Amino acid sequence: MFTSDKACFISFEGIDGSGKSTQAKLFLDRLIKNGKQGILVREPGGTPISEEIRQVLLTKVNRQMVARTEALLMTASRSQLTKEVILPNLEQNRWIIADRYADSTLAYQGGGRELNLDWLLDLNKFATYELEPNVTFFIDILPKEALRRKKYTEDRIEAEGIAFQKQVRQTYLELAKQFSDRIIVIDGHMSKEKIQNNIWDEIKRRYF
Ligand code: ADP
Ligand code: TYD
Repeated sequence: MFTSDKACFISFEGIDGSGKSTQAKLFLDRLIKNGKQGILVREPGGTPISEEIRQVLLTKVNRQMVARTEALLMTASRSQLTKEVILPNLEQNRWIIADRYADSTLAYQGGGRELNLDWLLDLNKFATYELEPNVTFFIDILPKEALRRKKYTEDRIEAEGIAFQKQVRQTYLELAKQFSDRIIVIDGHMSKEKIQNNIWDEIKRRYF
């Protein structure tokens, strides 16, 4: 059982199909089994307004959407989620487990769409009320492995293809170097159980 009383904000990042949603859910289950309170949020989405924004962002009908609109909508969704859900729950001492957060905008709209990273850092700062996760797990897999795992219909951004995913992955790796005190890189090619144990051990070592 844990000894610390302070709730943490943990985000999970990775290219599409990397296994981050699987790991976010497993982590929350384990947290709750260990007597902690916590909630799972996903981006883009997580509030009624943010889910509406998600529809606009991901429908293939909107193929004319330009990169700056995409960045603004991603961060608009984040702003609503942060103010409406994340901050009040942290205040209530509930852990926040986020399936994507601000790094996704840097990796996808920065790396993938090639928007200026400094603008995106400022935009994130504004949208998040300057909140940052305590720890971010970047689940790293090769884009060709992600493609192999894919069983579902792609959304507008996933449909960008393997070259796009490679650029996104490369940017995540650079971010992990730049923010090495926050971002932990996990080899996503291991089994689900092994990944989960590594993540758990890391959090235990840091916080309990
Ligand atoms: P993401 O949220 O990153 O898109 P998911 O967690 O939805 O990824 O996983 C994508 C697919 O890969 C799912 O079918 C899931 O069961 C499978 N998967 C997740 N983790 C692993 C793993 N470590 N090894 C093999 N397959 C995995
Ligand atoms: P998500 O539903 O998490 O897809 P997956 O489970 O396949 O990873 O995210 C939807 C898409 O939105 C995904 O392709 C990543 C993209 N995205 C951005 O481009 N920028 C962002 O800031 C966020 C949060 C997501």
